[in-house]
Amino acid sequence: MKKLTIAIDGPAGAGKSTIAKKVAEALNYVYLDTGAMYRAVTLMFLQSKKTFSPELVTKLAEEAKISFQREPGLNRVFLNGEEVTEAIRSLDVTHEVSAVSAVKGVREAMVKAQRELGKDGGVVLDGRDIGTVVFPLADVKIFLTASVEERARRRFLELKAKGMAVRQEDLAKDIALRDKLDSEREIAPLKCAENAHYLDSSQMDIPTVVKTILKLCKEA
Ligand code: CDP
Repeated sequence: MKKLTIAIDGPAGAGKSTIAKKVAEALNYVYLDTGAMYRAVTLMFLQSKKTFSPELVTKLAEEAKISFQREPGLNRVFLNGEEVTEAIRSLDVTHEVSAVSAVKGVREAMVKAQRELGKDGGVVLDGRDIGTVVFPLADVKIFLTASVEERARRRFLELKAKGMAVRQEDLAKDIALRDKLDSEREIAPLKCAENAHYLDSSQMDIPTVVKTILKLCKEA
């Protein structure tokens, strides 16, 4: 069977990474979390303790060596040889990532790396611009979304399970702000690609979404 390229885009907390991982497992494909790449560059910037400038973050993005190691139930992320799986999920990184990922040079470096990693197909990528920019000719394109309230609720449960003290209202505000920044930026804004399947998962559980996507893959 042909090795497909599957693009799953959508806003924060829509469940992309959970769904993309399960789809990749079901098909025995590689899973590529492109958000983790932007997060890793953001972490590198925060660790540098330097003042933000497009030139600085571009340079960091070009230098960053980002790799993934798949383990059952866990996608480990490495930055310049060090594991950053947890560190890239911190609230500090989450607050800065939209600013870093809006920089042209950062996007160019990441898109180049993503195209290289996905060039042979048999891959599920999740992000904001996969179906619009990175792989506009992807075999299956999904735009996965849900209401802000539902996404904040999911993120709240996820962080609570990790023992992080957060308020759901604050998460809803963060999510709404990140949606706005990601959708209104000049380069590669978050939007539904022309021929993407639009899935609102507010009322759908995980297995239903996975089943829906696998059916679309079969048809492709
Ligand atoms: O998991 P969550 O929805 O919180 O976000 P993520 O997928 O880890 O992505 C974090 C941030 O990286 C997003 O808010 C975007 O600003 C940026 N991003 C992007 O610009 N392009 C991508 N392909 C993926 C992420």
